[in-house]
Amino acid sequence: MGNYGKDAQWYVFIHRNKSTTIMNNEHIISVENVTKRFPMGGDREFTALKNINLKFGKGEFAGLVGPSGSGKTTLLNIIGSLDSPTEGKAIVMGNRISELSHKASARLRNMHLGFIFQVYNLLPVYTVFENVEFPLLLQNRSTAERKKAVMEALEWVGLQDMADKKPAKLSGGEGQRVAIARAMVKRPEIVLADEPTANLDAKNAHAVMKTMKELNRELETTFLFATHDEKVMSYLDRKIRLVDGEVAKDERMGGRSR
Ligand SMILES: Nc1ncnc2c1ncn2[C@@H]1O[C@H](COP(=O)(O)OP(=O)(O)OP(=O)(O)O)[C@@H](O)[C@H]1O
Ligand SMILES: [Mg+2]
Repeated sequence: MGNYGKDAQWYVFIHRNKSTTIMNNEHIISVENVTKRFPMGGDREFTALKNINLKFGKGEFAGLVGPSGSGKTTLLNIIGSLDSPTEGKAIVMGNRISELSHKASARLRNMHLGFIFQVYNLLPVYTVFENVEFPLLLQNRSTAERKKAVMEALEWVGLQDMADKKPAKLSGGEGQRVAIARAMVKRPEIVLADEPTANLDAKNAHAVMKTMKELNRELETTFLFATHDEKVMSYLDRKIRLVDGEVAKDERMGGRSR
């Protein structure tokens, strides 16, 4: 045994700990005492988030709501490892965001997070298929695997017949569905959606929310929204109201199902 045994013990110890953090952790996202200050020029600062504490379990369908400027996008960006807190910590799937290297945070985003924005940012020269395939190109998957995953994601959003179209030929609702497929194609554990219905009419807004709710149920994907759209709010299982960078209310819509 000798040294090998010792190393093996450490290996098991480290891996046990690691998997306990990730697998047994009921909180897939944990925000602890997060404060975010933006420099405003000179020695002035603006405090966008003030000592936020929030935990999210796997499979939640939750939203940050509140007036414009209340800090919703700032908090979503910190959870998405696109920004880091000035104080406190955000832990996503066992990873402390501000301690990740550039490479490690890119990897976390590529493997485990999906993003949906108000403007769906499809690449105009590529087809619907290629736009949805894009995140998989960062993941070393075979052509056959990619094709299967892309077609499945397009089916989830009801656009399997539009794979060869260019984004300019799509309606707003269809464009946002492609963006949902692009976010879901790698089956991320967490999807962060910032005002995903802002450019949609009521009918399309309801339709995309229903699709996301179904994906949440079927795949147990955790969804976290930032929104002031009442239509989005009516689908949420949990609403966290931010006011001036603070959590003013955190309510669960008990037993509600849609
Ligand atoms: N990079 C930045 N530099 C300076 N101030 C910023 C920066 N980003 C955001 N802020 C400020 O922080 C506050 C919160 O912004 P945030 O974008 O998080 O609000 P929001 O709740 O998402 O608003 P909206 O509903 O309009 O999208 C705002 O007052 C904003 O001006
Ligand atoms: Mg915002």
